[in-house]
Amino acid sequence: MKRRQIGTLALAASLLAIAPLTFAQNQGKLKVGFMLPATGTFASLGSAIENGFRLYVNEQGGKIAGREIEYVSVDDESDPSKATDNVNKLIKRDNVDVIIGTVHSGVAMAMAKAAKESGTLLIVPNAGANAVTGPMCAPNIFRSSFSNWQPGYAMGEIAAKKGHKKIVTITWKYAAGEESVKGFKDGFEQNGGTVIKDLNLPFPNVEFQALLTEIAALKPDAVFTFFAGGGAVKFVKDYSAAGLKKKIPLYGTGFLTDGTLEAQGSDADGLLTTLHYADNLNNKRDQSFRLAYAKTYKLQPDVYAVQGFDAAQMLSIGLNATKGDAKNITVFEQALRTAKIDSPRGVFTLSNSHNPIQDIYLRKVVGKENVMESIAHKALADPGLGCKM
Ligand code: BEZ
Repeated sequence: MKRRQIGTLALAASLLAIAPLTFAQNQGKLKVGFMLPATGTFASLGSAIENGFRLYVNEQGGKIAGREIEYVSVDDESDPSKATDNVNKLIKRDNVDVIIGTVHSGVAMAMAKAAKESGTLLIVPNAGANAVTGPMCAPNIFRSSFSNWQPGYAMGEIAAKKGHKKIVTITWKYAAGEESVKGFKDGFEQNGGTVIKDLNLPFPNVEFQALLTEIAALKPDAVFTFFAGGGAVKFVKDYSAAGLKKKIPLYGTGFLTDGTLEAQGSDADGLLTTLHYADNLNNKRDQSFRLAYAKTYKLQPDVYAVQGFDAAQMLSIGLNATKGDAKNITVFEQALRTAKIDSPRGVFTLSNSHNPIQDIYLRKVVGKENVMESIAHKALADPGLGCKM
C-alpha cells in the first residue's frame, strides 16, 4: 500500500473513532418535555418527579449521552380533558425528543395515544394506567413506576393472609382507583376473601363523610383504599376523625401515605400499605440517593422522586446505547429490555410490555416514615394483558 493510501485510511479510522461524540454533539441539546401537574391535588407529586429527574441529570454533569438538556414544561393540571392539547404542545409545537409524564392515569392514556401515533419517546414516571403497558403498549413507551394492578394485588394477598374475610373498598372513580381495587380483589379473592362493597366518588372530590357513614354501617373486617396526594391527606384524617381507625383496619396502596406524612400527622400512625418503595431500604443506591436529594432540595424523597430519578436513568441507558439518537427506537428499546436498572427501590428489570418487574414491600407508618416490614411479593410482574408490540 502506498504511503498516501495509508494516510487516508488512518484519517478515516480516526474520524470513525470520534464519530459517536460528533454525532451526539451534532444533534445539539436534548429537548426533554415535562408534562406533569403543577397545580391541583397531585401538584406535589409532579414536583417530586421533576426533582428526582433533575437530580439524576445533574449527577451526570447536566448531560445525557453527551447531550446537554433543554427542559420545557406543561402543567397538565391532572385534567384528562386537556391532555391531548397539552401533549401536542410538546410534540408539535416544541418538537421535544422525549416526554416525561405524567401522574394521573387518565391524562397518561391520552399521552400514550399521542406518543404511539407520533413515535415520540415517552417515559411514564408515575401514572399506573394498566392500558399504557397493556393494549396501548408500543416500542417507544416505557414506565419507570408501576401498573395500578401491582400494589393493589400485593395488598389483597396480605389482607387475606391476615385472616380478613369481608372487605369494603373506597376510592376515586377513575382508572387508578378502579384498577387498584381490581388488583386488590384479584389478590384477596384468589386467597379466600370477599369484597362486599365498592364505594367511590369522582376525582378529585374529597367529601368523604357520607361514604364513611356507610362504612360504619357495613361493619366490614377491614377497608382497602386508593387515594394519593392532597386527597390521601384528607381521607386519612377524616377516617380517623370519624372514629373508624380504632374499629376497622385501613389498608391501602402506598400512595395513601407517601409524601403525605407531615400533613397527616398521628392520624397515619401504624397504617399498613404496599408499594415498590419504603423509607428504610438501606441499599447503597438508596442511601446515596436520599442523601443527595435531601442536600439538594432540603426535603426527604418519596416514591415519586424515585420514579423521576429512574425515568432519567432509563433515558440515559437507552440514549447511551443509541449514542444520543432519540429516534433510534429499536436500539433504545433493546437496551432497556435487557437492562438491570439500579434504582433506590432495589434493582428492577422491564417486562416485555415495558413495565417494571419489582419487589412490592409491605410498609408500616412509624412517625414520619413508611418503614419496610417485609417483601409482600417478590419480583411482581404486571400481566401486561392485551399488549402486542
Ligand atoms: C394515577 O392516576 O395513576 C396515580 C395517581 C397518583 C398516585 C398513583 C397513581
